[in-house]
Amino acid sequence: MDSKITEREQWTSRLGFILAAAGSAVGLGNLWGFAYRSSQGGGAAFVLLYLLIVLIVCLPVFVAEMALGRNTMTSTLLAPVKLAGKNWYPLGILFFIAPLGIASYYSVIMGWTADTLFHSLFIGLPKNLTEAETFFGSISTGKSVLLGHLLSLVLTALIVSSGIKKGIEKVTRFFMPILFIIIVVLAIWASTLSGAWEGYKTFLFKFDFAELTNPQTIRNAFTQAFFSLSLGIGIMVTYASYLNRKSNLPKLSIGVASLDTLVGLLAGFITFPIVLTFGLSDAISESTVGALFISIPTALGSYGAVGRIVAVAFFALAYIAAITSSVSLLEVPVSSLMDKFGFKRKNSVWLITVFLFLAGIPSALNLNIFATVDSIFGGVLLIFGGFLVSFFMGWVVPSKFNDELNASKVGIKTTRYLKFMTRWVAPPIIAFGLLISLFDLLKSWVS
Ligand code: TRP
Repeated sequence: MDSKITEREQWTSRLGFILAAAGSAVGLGNLWGFAYRSSQGGGAAFVLLYLLIVLIVCLPVFVAEMALGRNTMTSTLLAPVKLAGKNWYPLGILFFIAPLGIASYYSVIMGWTADTLFHSLFIGLPKNLTEAETFFGSISTGKSVLLGHLLSLVLTALIVSSGIKKGIEKVTRFFMPILFIIIVVLAIWASTLSGAWEGYKTFLFKFDFAELTNPQTIRNAFTQAFFSLSLGIGIMVTYASYLNRKSNLPKLSIGVASLDTLVGLLAGFITFPIVLTFGLSDAISESTVGALFISIPTALGSYGAVGRIVAVAFFALAYIAAITSSVSLLEVPVSSLMDKFGFKRKNSVWLITVFLFLAGIPSALNLNIFATVDSIFGGVLLIFGGFLVSFFMGWVVPSKFNDELNASKVGIKTTRYLKFMTRWVAPPIIAFGLLISLFDLLKSWVS
């Protein structure tokens, strides 16, 4: 049954929101993206920068996005206009287009993940690196990649079409605890490997100060922080629009951001010991987007039956994490069409799903296009969006931001801190990150 358009759904509880928002945050970004970016040479400097950005910049942006959603109780397309007038419609449009851009290729990675999972389950793991590379080649081209892309989109659509409570909240409530259990068990298993310590050292302590000023490392850290927290394109605006008036926004943000960062680090505690134990650092540091899908199966392939079980657990974990993220990417444009044109949820979902399938075909068939779309939509646009959100809440409608902080009853100190950060700290730092990232991106295109 479709709910009436006039009645806005709400999460059943605060935990429901936290799990759904953490479900959005924890995804392939934590597993695939973290391994991919941290292995591009930044090492521990990348991890440090990423953590600092989350703490100093992303937390205030997170609260600002939620404040925008809860204050307007509307979807991202209309929220900025509702608070600050027609001139801000482009911001709404950015929030509409950016998630579509990410969703169009996110389902492609989900397809690779599903393929690797099935292969580990039914056929077995590759015997060596060459075999693994051939395997990745075969799943990232032709019919197989299109099928994975399509199935992942359909699965996502089925969940989103069931709505907030019966779809997204139900699925995330069920899967998030399972996901945490798998990831902790895998991290414990990885700690027993002979290269575990070497892995931790490489990941956390191999500090090269020069990397702190390397534009590529800076871009990777900003991208990872925004991508992993699902910030900058209105996801949290949408999710917070289904919250009740009394929820404490800063507390919720800290909860979600901590869970996400913890999972990001735990994922590093899984992948780095595996990669170093099996001497694959070279394979991973030649990092292509396929690094995770090549190095993990190769490493586990030399570990017999246990390796195969771990591979199945790992890729199942990745797929679960991905699905709870892709639902958030679909929900944002879906709710915008519902609010703007009065579309029924189901119609809105399927319309956008067909669009996403078509829009994702170039990324599915060509890894260069894939990487380019990712670096634009999953990179610089997020950072730009993060800048706009903090500027908007900090400078354009500060009184609304204040209202939401007061409604959250967080106390005068926290309120002052967040207002200060959103006005004076986040916008300049993000602007700096954006410039460096743009510069680095353009440089990678010319070279
Ligand atoms: N955060 C998710 C991940 O880490 C991906 C994701 C979902 C996302 N929604 C988003 C990224 C919105 C950026 C913006 O895999």
